[in-house]
Amino acid sequence: MTENTNISIREKNIAFIGFMGAGKTTIGKLVAKKLYRDFIDIDQEIEKRYKMPVSQIFQEFGEAEFRRMERELIVSLCTTTRLKVISLGGGAYLQEEVRKACLSTCIVFFIDLSWESWKERIPLIIDSRPILQQKSLDEIESLFLSRQKAYSLHHSKISTNELNPETAAEQIVESLKLAWELY
Ligand code: S3P
Repeated sequence: MTENTNISIREKNIAFIGFMGAGKTTIGKLVAKKLYRDFIDIDQEIEKRYKMPVSQIFQEFGEAEFRRMERELIVSLCTTTRLKVISLGGGAYLQEEVRKACLSTCIVFFIDLSWESWKERIPLIIDSRPILQQKSLDEIESLFLSRQKAYSLHHSKISTNELNPETAAEQIVESLKLAWELY
């Protein structure tokens, strides 16, 4: 495997982190299109490789096995690719190895949504997210809050409470262009 930590900021992968359903995939795709880069959604990539939906992977192999799959895939992508836009599953970044790999080889953007804004989305996402099954609203809120510490380890944050995905993507691309000019 080629080591990939000494790459110029223009060539670094761009990684999107944040809670499930925050818009990482939608915004990531838009950013990739604007920058003419390939887009990789980690969950979709795992589904392709293992030929089953994430919820079925959780059911058949358990969460620990899913976490191993996502960790291996992310670390491998981080260390062997450049110029990609990558959207991580919401729990992936809780793993230290994933954080280290992303922070050293990618520009990491945290897609930040308040609890009040996020909870409006529950009906839209609950069926496809095994982590949310059989949890009360209070339990989901605790999970949401407990993950913020890991998400706070990023290079840049965009708060999307008041932004639609297109505007968020435009702002991200502008900030990247500025960083690329400066460094
Ligand atoms: C998970 C988030 C999901 C997916 C899996 C577990 C989590 O991805 O990886 O259901 O633990 O937060 P999204 O963040 O894309 O929904």
